[in-house]
Amino acid sequence: MAQWTSAIGSAQLGRLLTSQQPRPAGPGTRRPPAYRALADGIRLLVLEGRVPVATRLPAERELAQALSVSRTTVAAAYEALRGEGFLESRRGAGSWTAVPAGKPLPARGLEPLPPEALGSIIDLGTAALPAPEPWLTRAVQGALEELPPYAHTHGDYPAGLPALRTMIAERYTAHGIPTMPEQIMVTTGAMGAIDAICHLFAGHGERVAVESPSYANILQLMREAGLRLVPVAMADGLAGWDLDRWRQVLRDAAPRLAYVVADFHNPTGALADEEQRRSLVDAARSAGTVLVVDETMTELHFDRDREMPRRVCAFDPAGSTVVTVGSASKAFWAGMRIGWVRAAPDVIRSLVAARAYADLGTPVLEQLAVNWLLNTGGWEEAVELRRGQARENRDALVAALRRELPAWEFDVPDGGLTLWVKAGGLSGSRLAEVGERVGVRVPSGPRFGVDGAFEGYVRLPFTVSGAVADEAAVRLAAAARLVTDGQGAGGDVPRTLIA
Ligand SMILES: Cc1ncc(COP(=O)(O)O)c(C=O)c1O
Repeated sequence: MAQWTSAIGSAQLGRLLTSQQPRPAGPGTRRPPAYRALADGIRLLVLEGRVPVATRLPAERELAQALSVSRTTVAAAYEALRGEGFLESRRGAGSWTAVPAGKPLPARGLEPLPPEALGSIIDLGTAALPAPEPWLTRAVQGALEELPPYAHTHGDYPAGLPALRTMIAERYTAHGIPTMPEQIMVTTGAMGAIDAICHLFAGHGERVAVESPSYANILQLMREAGLRLVPVAMADGLAGWDLDRWRQVLRDAAPRLAYVVADFHNPTGALADEEQRRSLVDAARSAGTVLVVDETMTELHFDRDREMPRRVCAFDPAGSTVVTVGSASKAFWAGMRIGWVRAAPDVIRSLVAARAYADLGTPVLEQLAVNWLLNTGGWEEAVELRRGQARENRDALVAALRRELPAWEFDVPDGGLTLWVKAGGLSGSRLAEVGERVGVRVPSGPRFGVDGAFEGYVRLPFTVSGAVADEAAVRLAAAARLVTDGQGAGGDVPRTLIA
C-alpha cells in the first residue's frame, strides 16, 4: 500500500513555491543551482507544515512543466530530498513527503508545569487563565447548597446530571439549533469528550483528518489511541480552512473522523466563516466522515460589534455528520474539568454505554457548580470578565513582542487564547529548549504538527499581562539571541530553518 494519505497537484505546489519569500542573498553568496532551490523550497514547505507529511507530490514531468524547468531539475531535486529524508518513493506508487527518520522532533502533547513549580519561570506553555473570581467561589457555594438531594443517590451519572444536560441543551436551542437533553453527555473536559468519541468511532489504525497545525494534546491523544493522522494544511495567516484541500483529503483518504476547531483555532486563532463551515459539513457528509467540532474556544470572542458565525452544528442540526464538543475550561476555568458532547441521541447512548469502562462519570459537585452558573446568569458575567482579561493580555503580548522581536511574524486573532508565531527563521525547538534556561516556557511549533512540521514556530498564549508580558518578551528575545549565536543546547534539530 502507498504511504501517502493525500496528494498535491503541480499547480498548487507551484503556487506555494512561488509564495515563499526568497532568502536574502548575503554579500558574495552565489545563487544555488535550480535543483537545490527547488529541493529547499519543498523542504521548507514540509517543515512549515504547508505541505503535510505523507502528501504525494506530482510526477516529475508534470511538475517540470508547471514550473517551466527541465525534468532533470525536478528529478535532481527529488533525489536530493530523498537523500535528506524529506521524500520517499516507491515504483508505481509515486513520491510522498516525509521527515527524516531518527530525528526525534518533539511531537508530544503539552504537560503543564504544576503551579507550585513555577517559581521564576514565566509559563507560556498552557493556554488557560486563572479562575474568574468571585464566580468560582460563588458557583461552588451554590453547588454545595444544591448537593443534599444528590447525596442520597449513588452519585453515578454517566450521561451527566439531568439538570445540567437540560441547561446545555437549552443553550444550543437558544442559538437556533434545537437540542434535546438526550443529545447531550457531560464529560470530563473536552479531552474526555474527544477521547470517548475517538474510541467509539475509530479503531486502531483508522484515519483521522486534522488541521495542520492543530491542538497538541488532541493530536497526542489520537496518536496514543493508534489513529493515523492525516494532516490538512491550514491556509496562511487567519484564512484558516482551504476547502479545496479539505474536499480533496476527505475524498482521497476517506477518514473515519475529521477534527476541527472552527472558532479561534488553537494554535492559529483563525475563525471559520459560515461558508467554510457549511462546506466542511458538506464535504464530510459526502465522504461519510464524522466531523468532530471542538468548541472549547467559542465563547472567547473579543469584538462585541461583530456577530459570530453560526455554530458548525447549525448546518447539521440532527447530528448525522457533526459531533460537537464543548467545555467550561476556556470560557470559565480549566480546573472545573467539565466538558460535553452534543450529538444524535443514538450516538450519545453509545457514548454513555461505553463510559462504564472509562471514567464512569463526571464529578457531581463540579456539574452542580456549572449548572448554578448557567442558571443564575453568573456564566455570562464570568465569560465577559474572561474576554476582557484575554483581550488585555493579547494586546500586552502583541505590543511587547513587536517591541522586543520585530522580526517575528504573526497575525492578531479576534478571540481565543493563542498567537501562532513564526520565529524569524529560528528553530522553535531550540527556542523552547533555551527558553527554559532563561526563564520562559514556550511550546515549540512541532508539537502542533504531525511528524515534525512547524519547526520555525512557537505558540504563545494570552495568559500574562502588563509587566509580566513585557518580561516574557524580553526573555524570549534573550533566548532568540542565544539560539542565533549557536548557544542552544545540542540535539538534532537544526538551529535555523535555513540549512
Ligand atoms: C482546542 C482545545 N480543545 C480542548 C482543550 C482541552 O479542553 P479541556 O480542558 O476541556 O479538556 C483545549 C485546551 O487548551 C483546547 O485548546
